[in-house]
Amino acid sequence: MDRRNKPSALAATPAAPPQARVDLVGDRVTAVLPTGESVEVLLTGATVLSWKGAVGGGAPEERLWLSESAVLDGSKAVRGGIPVVFPVFGQSPADVATSKLPQHGLARTSRWEFLGRSTSEADASSKTATSNGVQLDFGLTSSSADPKLKSLWPFDFALLYRVTLEPGSLVTSIVVTNNETDKAFDFQVLLHTYFRVGDITQVQVDGLGGASYSDKVDGFKVKTQAEGKVDITGETDRVYKPEAGAAQALTIVEGGRPKYGITRDNLSDAVVWNPWGDKTKSIGDFAPKDGYKNMLCVEPGSVSSWQTLEPGDAFEGAQSIKLL
Ligand code: BG6
Repeated sequence: MDRRNKPSALAATPAAPPQARVDLVGDRVTAVLPTGESVEVLLTGATVLSWKGAVGGGAPEERLWLSESAVLDGSKAVRGGIPVVFPVFGQSPADVATSKLPQHGLARTSRWEFLGRSTSEADASSKTATSNGVQLDFGLTSSSADPKLKSLWPFDFALLYRVTLEPGSLVTSIVVTNNETDKAFDFQVLLHTYFRVGDITQVQVDGLGGASYSDKVDGFKVKTQAEGKVDITGETDRVYKPEAGAAQALTIVEGGRPKYGITRDNLSDAVVWNPWGDKTKSIGDFAPKDGYKNMLCVEPGSVSSWQTLEPGDAFEGAQSIKLL
């Protein structure tokens, strides 16, 4: 018999969705998603040291290459991960304001400030809104940058770097602001991503066919990439300028299978770098010496010319990497 006034089921309080865990220990910030995927960022350079991402229900695996002898104490730029290059890419020309800065500028060796994880309120309104991921923000300004370096490039700037980890993807974005009241500055910026690959001889980059590039291992000659995918068969150091600019999607393919999908926002160039065997002998912090077989740098950037930033203006650029 059906009982009248049967007690109704207890109203269940909906469980809060599992949250990412974020820790700042010493000079490293780590974030771990409920899926076990993780990211680790060193305050020196706000360098992403590790990204363990999962695809297709598999276990998280390391996706970035980091040299076994990378210097992580802040005394040198990190060999591996994702160093941030600003305000000059490579050796600066002598006749511009960055001329006194070392190769790749001042951001990768400065100690950045961890500004915190984005709050859930901020997530809801952010254009990179994430319900099952986490966003970590880092800042560097002309007053917090390495004092020896900032005196070599006398502009009042602020950088905001956001690292967004989501299941199967990593996005890193940078905002450059000119805080001067009356002078513009010129800069270059690049996200120097060291991708981990299984066997470089099986790796190709798709999306660069037909693009013009400056070949740094052949006297900076300007060449046109043959149609099709780019094979990596020896020392490679090229600044590509795809005709479609940042709209051109890039894919790192291994063994014929797409592995990393890279989309870019406002970063219209892409550097492709692999030092290959001979060159690694002269790179002191590159280990093991045959580690070039397991890495490929594909570096979204704005480096083939200069971005001019007027006082009070800001520039934003980003790379978005999806595991395929
Ligand atoms: C690449 C450059 O982006 O970085 C290469 O195109 C350079 O020319 C490489 O060798 C590594 O630079 P660094 O300063 O970290 O040794």
